Amino acid sequence: MNSQSIKVFAPASVSNVGPGFDILGFALHEPGDEIILTKSDSDKLEITNITGDGGKLPYDIEKNTASVAIKSLMDKYEIRVGISVEINKKMGLGSGLGSSAASAVAAVVAVNELLELGLNKNQLLEHALAGEFVASKAIHADNVAPALFGGIVLIRGYHPIDVIQIPSPEELYCTIIYPDIEIKTSEARAILPDSVPLKDMISQTGNIASLIYGLATSDYKLISRSLNDAVIEPVRSKLISGYSEIKKAAIDAGALGSSISGSGPSLFALSNSEDVANKIAVDTKTVVDSLGIGSITYISKINEAGTKILG
Ligand code: HSE
Repeated sequence: MNSQSIKVFAPASVSNVGPGFDILGFALHEPGDEIILTKSDSDKLEITNITGDGGKLPYDIEKNTASVAIKSLMDKYEIRVGISVEINKKMGLGSGLGSSAASAVAAVVAVNELLELGLNKNQLLEHALAGEFVASKAIHADNVAPALFGGIVLIRGYHPIDVIQIPSPEELYCTIIYPDIEIKTSEARAILPDSVPLKDMISQTGNIASLIYGLATSDYKLISRSLNDAVIEPVRSKLISGYSEIKKAAIDAGALGSSISGSGPSLFALSNSEDVANKIAVDTKTVVDSLGIGSITYISKINEAGTKILG
């Protein structure tokens, strides 16, 4: 690598976290995506190589989350430089782990470093969101913000966007079980109801408020009581084969709670010991295996750093 080139890692993230649809997420240590940007002699932004996507991602700069994010930033600041983009996907597409967000975030952090723009994370956020929009057809920051800022992030509001970082409990572990099914976020959003009964609104606001309080005070019992989603999980869990059996295996293994990660198909389960986190991984994988579906598990504490400049 030289100063003409930069490589950035951005992590996967768990969004929604039970009751926090579109407003809560946290970053994982793995998996994650890498973006390499290189200044070029041409005056064009172009994608020169994509790996790890099984040939599914577009090279068209108007359609790829990474290039759309870079273009949004360059247009806003009227930057005219040739840049070639290489994307190394290290996680599945449509996994529920914020794959498109990770690429968009890595891209804006990389262009900021490469061109020494000195923009802060709040300034980068809107452009990463523009990239994420291409994949999910909606503006939601609950993957982008954790990948960019690290840690646990609450989005208090969107107009204007207001990102609040929540302290992470020291001993909080997250186990991910990622069944080999692809769910497009745009499709998983299209099946959601337009309105919510008042009783579900009461349940959801009570749980999100107490979840945030439990996270901020490391109250694991309160976190456990709060991991309930009355609105989204009942609808989306139908898209995931064996959902209730997988979730039950996580709870029986000692999880504080478990739900869909983002728009699925991955499930996350929280615990407060590494042994329990490992047991959840083994037991949930056994259930998914018995359904004849392949899967990958990850175990991670909260990633406080977010993106990493690799060189
Ligand atoms: N909050 C978004 C959703 C996250 O659930 O649709 C998508 O990964």
